[in-house]
Amino acid sequence: MPDSVSEFLRLRQDADDALLLSLLADEPRDDTALFAAADAVRRHWYGDAVYLRGLIEFTNYCKNDCYYCGIRHGNRNAQRYRLTTDEILACAAEGYRLGYRTFVLQGGEDPYFTDERICEIVSALHRGYPDCAVTLSVGEKTRESYQAFFDAGARRYLLRHETADEAHYRQLHPDPMSLENRKRCLFDLREIGYQVGSGFMIGSPGQTPETLLADFRFLQELRPQMIGVGPYLTHPDTPFAGQPSGDLKRGLRIVAMLRLLFPNALIPATTAFGTVAPNGRELALRAGANVVMPNLSPVRVRKLYSLYENKICTGEEAAECRGCLERRIEAAGYRAVTAVGDAAAVPAAECPVTTA
Ligand code: 5AD
Ligand code: FES
Repeated sequence: MPDSVSEFLRLRQDADDALLLSLLADEPRDDTALFAAADAVRRHWYGDAVYLRGLIEFTNYCKNDCYYCGIRHGNRNAQRYRLTTDEILACAAEGYRLGYRTFVLQGGEDPYFTDERICEIVSALHRGYPDCAVTLSVGEKTRESYQAFFDAGARRYLLRHETADEAHYRQLHPDPMSLENRKRCLFDLREIGYQVGSGFMIGSPGQTPETLLADFRFLQELRPQMIGVGPYLTHPDTPFAGQPSGDLKRGLRIVAMLRLLFPNALIPATTAFGTVAPNGRELALRAGANVVMPNLSPVRVRKLYSLYENKICTGEEAAECRGCLERRIEAAGYRAVTAVGDAAAVPAAECPVTTA
């Protein structure tokens, strides 16, 4: 009887629930064949390119209270900051000098940053760097807000769904947050014409093979261009303090499965992977990831954007991070590229991910 990895490699998008569940369950197994297959698919569509995205964490104020997150509203120990428009533009200028052609503006859901303020920042970036992509990651908004950001020049949007299982979503988020609204946001973004990124944490409290299966099925329905995953990492000032962090091995297996199911997706080797293990990002690249998101935020605020404990890259200047990442990418067997890097076009028959 063929083992589940070879069955999955044969069936890929047609894999049924039982097969995916057997891969998502925790038994020890050797993932070498899975990683090699994921790497071959990634090289087929993207060669050895790893795309760089300059990340600007511009506010750690947040009105939400997600139980897992260190910058949740209820964390009175968090020291809050906001960058000014000039500071944001200075980060972008430095990023441009370092060769980055995508800027990711990420922040908590901070009411100070009204639609008008966000549009101002987006248009300033869009005008100043017409050869760059502006990506937003500012949470749940109305369709009208998303449209206004798009009209101002934003073309990509990152919003992880976190979990596609209703009961699990409730375990991770207090009212009034809802999976229904999160999904509404993602489909609105897609309809407006954004390249959409979604994803989830690996090993969040309450996650099971069944909830992960729901995540895979949801992603197959949404067909995002970008898929961000990374291990859940505990933070002491949250209700989940003390819950075990996510597992590296399972995380890598999930990256490989995502690459095989979504051949042309842009999948980052996230900071969370680099935090669970010193070579975690390199391992994620070798399991199928093809994006890294070096931090461009001013060093003085880096430690404050503390979603989880022991986050890496909080002391280094942007230029140091650039050099460090380039060496890591090369050591893993790939090449850092500075192109804008949209999702590769894949014939519809071969791939469920739409290209923008
Ligand atoms: N561990 C790992 N990832 C986290 N995120 C938030 N808190 C944590 C944590 N404790 C992730 C969420 C969010 C993204 C910006 O960071 O998935 O969408
Ligand atoms: Fe930031 Fe290594 S990537 S210091």
